[in-house]
Amino acid sequence: MKCWISLLFVAIASIQCISASKVYVGNLSWNSTDEGLRLLFEEFGQVIDSVVMRDRDSGRSRGFGFVTMATDEQARMAIEALNDTEFDGRRIKVNAAIPFRN
Ligand SMILES: *[C@@H]1O[C@H](CO)[C@@H](O)[C@H](O)[C@H]1NC(C)=O
Ligand SMILES: *[C@@H]1O[C@H](CO)[C@@H](O)[C@H](O)[C@H]1NC(C)=O
Ligand SMILES: *[C@@H]1O[C@H](CO)[C@@H](O)[C@H](O)[C@H]1NC(C)=O
Repeated sequence: MKCWISLLFVAIASIQCISASKVYVGNLSWNSTDEGLRLLFEEFGQVIDSVVMRDRDSGRSRGFGFVTMATDEQARMAIEALNDTEFDGRRIKVNAAIPFRN
């Protein structure tokens, strides 16, 4: 019995590992904001988190960011719809983020 329960936890952990709901957004305009990204991606589902990476000293956008959608399906639709489209005057790159382990 104990053995079965352990196996179940391993299975759940693996599924979370390959989750692809995090999206990389590149070639962002210098003036793009977390909120601007959120509004753009909300058209395709629920945005859990959106962040534009900034230079620690100047606070200026570093030209890329990440958006986490509620489901993999929403992330996939947003990637298909938004990759290579214009946002804040620039043609943005939208891809599945490389999944990180913490
Ligand atoms: C950023 O700049 C572009 C082009 O100048 C402009 O269209 C856009 O509204 C600006 N976005 C923000 C969030 O200020
Ligand atoms: C980034 O956006 C600019 C302005 O839309 C575009 O000219 C350029 O080709 C884009 N860069 C990439 C790598 O797509
Ligand atoms: C996004 O667009 C670029 C340039 O057209 C392409 O190389 C890339 O494969 C596309 N990525 C996805 C996830 O469709």
